[in-house]
Amino acid sequence: MEDYVFQEATSNDIPALVSVFISSIQTAAKQDYSSNEISEWLESANNKKRWSELVQQQTVIALYVSKVMAGFGSLKDKNYIDFLYVHGNHQKKGFAQKILDKLIQTAEKQGQTIVTSDVSYTARPLFEKNGFTVVQQNNNARGSEVLVNFKMELVLPNV
Ligand SMILES: CC(C)(COP(=O)(O)OP(=O)(O)OC[C@H]1O[C@@H](n2cnc3c(N)ncnc32)[C@H](O)[C@@H]1OP(=O)(O)O)[C@@H](O)C(=O)NCCC(=O)NCCS
Repeated sequence: MEDYVFQEATSNDIPALVSVFISSIQTAAKQDYSSNEISEWLESANNKKRWSELVQQQTVIALYVSKVMAGFGSLKDKNYIDFLYVHGNHQKKGFAQKILDKLIQTAEKQGQTIVTSDVSYTARPLFEKNGFTVVQQNNNARGSEVLVNFKMELVLPNV
């Protein structure tokens, strides 16, 4: 595996976060979502408020390879994984797993007993491999499309 480092993202990193977000969806999600669904999903790349709230209100963990952001994940309210995205150039190299490990460890360190997320079809196998189970299917209306994802949860061992 290539060398990588983690760094917490700030507002200066928003352009890199947006670029990873767009690339990850364009590359990976097309195996599971139609082009119209992907267009609706990508709409949130333009939502400036969403990105500034992300870095202000959540813990955003970015993974860098050779000083370039290769992926990122975020923890909202200490135990909700809101984002998990890996750039198209770096998928299938195990980086989402590393970011997920870090997010779960961060929740554990803060005394959380459960981690939840709303997970795409594309990411569901990764979350299942890590012990998450599906609580329900979400049918999210976005423009003219319905984007399906899954509410998943992982119960953490009591320490
Ligand atoms: C889902 C995503 C984050 C995975 O990133 P990644 O760095 O390629 O994943 P990893 O290399 O760490 O893979 C870890 C495991 O996840 C699973 N996995 C990853 N990508 C997969 C895919 N496209 N299809 C099926 N399983 C996949 C595999 O089980 C893999 O284990 P393996 O190495 O034993 O095969 C990436 O595809 C992505 O950014 N997708 C688009 C955005 C998205 O759906 N984000 C999640 C929103 S909840």
